[in-house]
Amino acid sequence: MVRKLSPERITVALPKGRLFEQTISIFNRCGILDRKLSQDSRKLILETEDFNFLLVRAKDVPTYVEYGVADIGVAGDDVLFESKPDVYRPVDLGIGLCTIMVAGLPEDREKYFANPTVLKIATKYPNIAKDFFGEKGIKVQIIELYGSIELAPLVGLADFIVDIVETGRTLRENGLVVIEEIMPSSAKLIVNRASYKTKNEKIMSIIDKLENMLVKG
Ligand code: PRP
Repeated sequence: MVRKLSPERITVALPKGRLFEQTISIFNRCGILDRKLSQDSRKLILETEDFNFLLVRAKDVPTYVEYGVADIGVAGDDVLFESKPDVYRPVDLGIGLCTIMVAGLPEDREKYFANPTVLKIATKYPNIAKDFFGEKGIKVQIIELYGSIELAPLVGLADFIVDIVETGRTLRENGLVVIEEIMPSSAKLIVNRASYKTKNEKIMSIIDKLENMLVKG
C-alpha cells in the first residue's frame, strides 16, 4: 500500500546526518518549526501539524523533490551539480560548507600539471569530475566509488580523487594534499516547480522566514 502523505502539509526531504540537525535548528530559529525533531529513531517519515519530513540519503533529496513527492528539500551544491535536478534553488542556507577538490599524493602534483594524456580519477561525483576535466580538455578515466575515496590513490586504484573537503582532516591523516579547487559547496533550499505554484503561499512564507533570518545573521 502506498503511504499517503497529508497533502495539506508541506513535505520536506531532508538528508539524514549532520545536515538534518542543522536544518531543523534553522527551521526552529526562524519560526518555521516550533519544536525539536530528532533522527534518533529508525522512522523515515516524521510528521508535525504543518510538515511531513522524509529522511533520505543526501544524494536522494533532489529525486524526491524533482518528482514532487516532496515539495521542498535541502541539498548541497555537491549533490545538485552532480545530479542537475530540475528544481528551484531559492535560498542558500549557509550550512554544510565544504569545497569540492582534486586531491592526491604530494609527489604526483607535478604529473597532474604536466599535461597528462589521461588521468585516473576516483570519485563519488563522476559528473562533476567529467565536467571539470572536460572543460580543461583533459581526458579522464572515472572510477566511481561510494565512500572512503581517499583510499584510492594510496593503493594505486586511481591517480587522483575528486571529493568534498570539509575540515581537511581525512586528507591530512592519509598523507594527501589538495591539488586544485573545483568549487565551494553549501546547502540550498530546493523547491519542486509545481509545488511552488500550487502551494505558493506556504512555500513563500518559508522562503521569507529563512531569508529574514539569514539577512539578520
Ligand atoms: C566525506 C568526504 C571526505 C570527508 C571530508 O566523507 O567524502 O572523505 O567527508 O571531510 P573532512 O575534510 O572533514 O575530513 P564521509 O564522511 O561522508 O564518508 P564516506 O567516505 O564514507 O563517504
